[in-house]
Amino acid sequence: MFNKLIFILFIFGFSVTALAEDERELVSLPAPMREHMLSNMRDHLLALEAVTRNLAQGEFDAASETAETRLGMSSMATHGAAHMAPYMPEGMRAIGSAMHRAASRFSITAKDAAVEGGMAGAFGALAEVMQQCAACHSAYRVH
Ligand code: HEC
Repeated sequence: MFNKLIFILFIFGFSVTALAEDERELVSLPAPMREHMLSNMRDHLLALEAVTRNLAQGEFDAASETAETRLGMSSMATHGAAHMAPYMPEGMRAIGSAMHRAASRFSITAKDAAVEGGMAGAFGALAEVMQQCAACHSAYRVH
């Protein structure tokens, strides 16, 4: 009994320590670039909100348009992606490109959301976009 208790305390202590450690890689960006990137990020979240709302309201063309212009391949120039890419580690750049590509794929899928079964496809494609947000956030930090 006592041994069991010690074991449980040991495991618990371990997992708390693991949670407290931040193992994300720190990416050092010049301050203005960091601010620019975080401002892009806040717009990414607003765009996801708009897209999700569009889907809920059956506004599929709007969902498609928002995703392409604010998250997709077309958004890269306005977000200054080419300017920022050289400062990012290769892995981070790869996740960033995967996100832009996934958003452009969603944009195409969303147009078909009105057809039978289309909504599931659209949400599946949206999850692919969000998977890239989560993957990058788990691996990197800028401050
Ligand atoms: C290629 C990497 C990458 C991708 C992809 C990415 N992010 Fe981020 N995001 C970051 C990093 C790094 C931070 C800063 C985290 C830190 O330093 O703690 C951040 C921060 C944020 C923040 C906080 C902004 C602030 O003002 O502090 C939001 C909101 C955010 N991201 C939303 C998103 C959303 C939504 C997506 C997907 C549509 C996304 N991000 C995709 C890397 C990424």
